[in-house]
Amino acid sequence: MKEKLQNIRNQAISLLNDVKELKALDEIRVEYLGKKGQLTQVLRGMKDLSPEERPIIGQLANEIRDEIEQKLEEVKNLLILKEQEKKLKEEVIDVTMPGRKRKTGGRHPMNLVLNEIVEIFLGMGYKIAEGPEIETDYYNFEALNIPKDHPARDEQDTFYINQEFMLRTATSPIQVRVMEKQKPPVRIICPGKVYRSDAVDATHSPVFHQIEGLVVDKNITFADLKGVLEVFAKELFGEKVNVRFRPHFFPFTEPSAEMDVSCVVCGGKGCNVCKGSGWTEILGCGMVHPNVLRMAGIDPEEYTGFAFGMGLERLAMSKYGIKDLRLFVENDIRFLKQF
Ligand code: FA5
Ligand code: MG
Repeated sequence: MKEKLQNIRNQAISLLNDVKELKALDEIRVEYLGKKGQLTQVLRGMKDLSPEERPIIGQLANEIRDEIEQKLEEVKNLLILKEQEKKLKEEVIDVTMPGRKRKTGGRHPMNLVLNEIVEIFLGMGYKIAEGPEIETDYYNFEALNIPKDHPARDEQDTFYINQEFMLRTATSPIQVRVMEKQKPPVRIICPGKVYRSDAVDATHSPVFHQIEGLVVDKNITFADLKGVLEVFAKELFGEKVNVRFRPHFFPFTEPSAEMDVSCVVCGGKGCNVCKGSGWTEILGCGMVHPNVLRMAGIDPEEYTGFAFGMGLERLAMSKYGIKDLRLFVENDIRFLKQF
């Protein structure tokens, strides 16, 4: 019996000395100490021993069980430690490895130009005003001195929702909304989306952006208008840019003009961006019509004002030498990446 126990002990210990994996450790525990394990089986046979032998063998069996259990624990801790070391070695961070490049988003070119324009006018003391994109006949036409039979009211130019409502065709209705609420001095710009049923081509879109400007105060003259817009053009396009005013007609301004800037791409010599003319039209402007002031509750005998409205797409095209405004909405990453 003693010998049998010693054999079991030696086998178990030598197995444990060779173990390489935690899983195998459990198998050994079951094989020797489990319910049907070798040691348990021997202990079961104790009832056949003489009363003198029983305590001696019993003590030996207990000692061997303790020894195997202790060894199991030892080996287990060792294996856990080894496994951790292996993991740490594998997971070592190579700080000299190059980092992963992340693509950063950027601002849209229209947004860049809009921000620049807004900064220029804020710097001259202007405030920002906004208005609804769905307008009434009154604000979009009537209050802007556009009579009922004016061609701008044609259904071919305007997206009507019903007889009363339409998508605004310009940012000009905001002028009226502001003047109704605010007594002069007024000095605002109004960026926003506008809608016209224009056919799409390189310079026209049915949805585009305008920035309206309005100044109303005592003794405002056309010279103020020219001065402000010239300073604006030079700040946006650079000192070298030339501007010119051409007489024009708008129902809500008198006199009216359009302003051109010398082509930013060719410097005025003529190229395919400016279609050979050397100039690009960027805005319409004029002195606020007395009828418009009067309808908004401002006395035209006491106050005068000027207004302008520019196309943001056209400004961005001039600024960056872009030939086709469709590029702004196509979301081609190769185009957007350049700004
Ligand atoms: C107007 O819309 C006037 N309300 C501007 C104005 C305001 C004049 C205040 C006087 C006082 P016009 O229709 O010309 O004017 O448009 C102004 C600018 O919008 C144009 O110079 C052009 O740059 C841009 N624009 C006009 N139609 C389109 C279009 N379909 N797509 C892109 N840009 C356009
Ligand atoms: Mg025009």
